[in-house]
Amino acid sequence: MLNLTGKKALITGGSQGIGRVLAMELAKQGCEVVVNCAHHVENAENVVSEICAAGGKGSVFSCDVSDETAVNAGFKGLGRIDILINNARLDPWLRDKERSEGQWFSRVIDVNLKGAFLCSWAFLEQAKPLGWGRIVNMASVRSFRPAELNTIAYSVSKLGMHALTRAFAHNGAPFGITANTICPGMVLTENIDKRLSAEKKAEEEAAIPLGRAATSEEIADAVLFVLRNGYVTGETININGGMYYAP
Ligand SMILES: NC(=O)c1ccc[n+]([C@@H]2O[C@H](COP(=O)([O-])OP(=O)(O)OC[C@H]3O[C@@H](n4cnc5c(N)ncnc54)[C@H](OP(=O)(O)O)[C@@H]3O)[C@@H](O)[C@H]2O)c1
Repeated sequence: MLNLTGKKALITGGSQGIGRVLAMELAKQGCEVVVNCAHHVENAENVVSEICAAGGKGSVFSCDVSDETAVNAGFKGLGRIDILINNARLDPWLRDKERSEGQWFSRVIDVNLKGAFLCSWAFLEQAKPLGWGRIVNMASVRSFRPAELNTIAYSVSKLGMHALTRAFAHNGAPFGITANTICPGMVLTENIDKRLSAEKKAEEEAAIPLGRAATSEEIADAVLFVLRNGYVTGETININGGMYYAP
């Protein structure tokens, strides 16, 4: 299993939730971490401050991942990146009421799926000459389960991540670049705490076969596995407490 010390990792949407925990964990493993987000840049700055206070190395990359020009320019400016974690997402429960159904669908696909595609493409080009690289795509158990009306775009965007993973695994393999999908169920994050009342959260957790949501650290553990093990590629790690098979 590979030691990650000295690797440089970019985490899209690394300013909060699972991305934040991933950023902290990779820094602990000795990676230099680039923390991306588009809107609340102060959150990304706080993550980087925490990393640096703990003796690690980090920087902020403020960029909307759906903006092709900004992503390409950003990658040029960042220099070498060894690890790309496509984690940014438009939260489906923070629906922008001004958009029509079609406009919302396009925006979710743009951020969640096209954003991961643009970053992976830019990453692949710069990682090929290095002869080593890792792409991790964050999907969701919702890519396999029937969606409610308000989360159709989200589920479709996350199902697309699996195809993206296989495509980049295939095209990256000759250059020592792996790509894998991490597919969580319910994960306890600050957003979930804001969105769900204590009662609703308890009800949703009770419906999970293992009786609880995951911690972000448990998700980070699965990410570390595919980063360290260079022989796993094009695969999906389902980490959902049994939600995948539950009725
Ligand atoms: N939490 C769960 O229960 C759960 C379950 C299954 C899968 N997942 C997946 O795990 C990943 C992380 O989930 P989370 O709950 O931690 O997410 P989250 O709290 O909603 O955070 C999303 C992140 O994406 C950033 N972001 C939003 N729009 C962006 C854009 N256009 N460009 C760049 N960054 C953007 C946000 O920052 P700004 O808004 O400041 O830009 C934030 O850092 C997601 O891919 C999610 O689908 C989560």
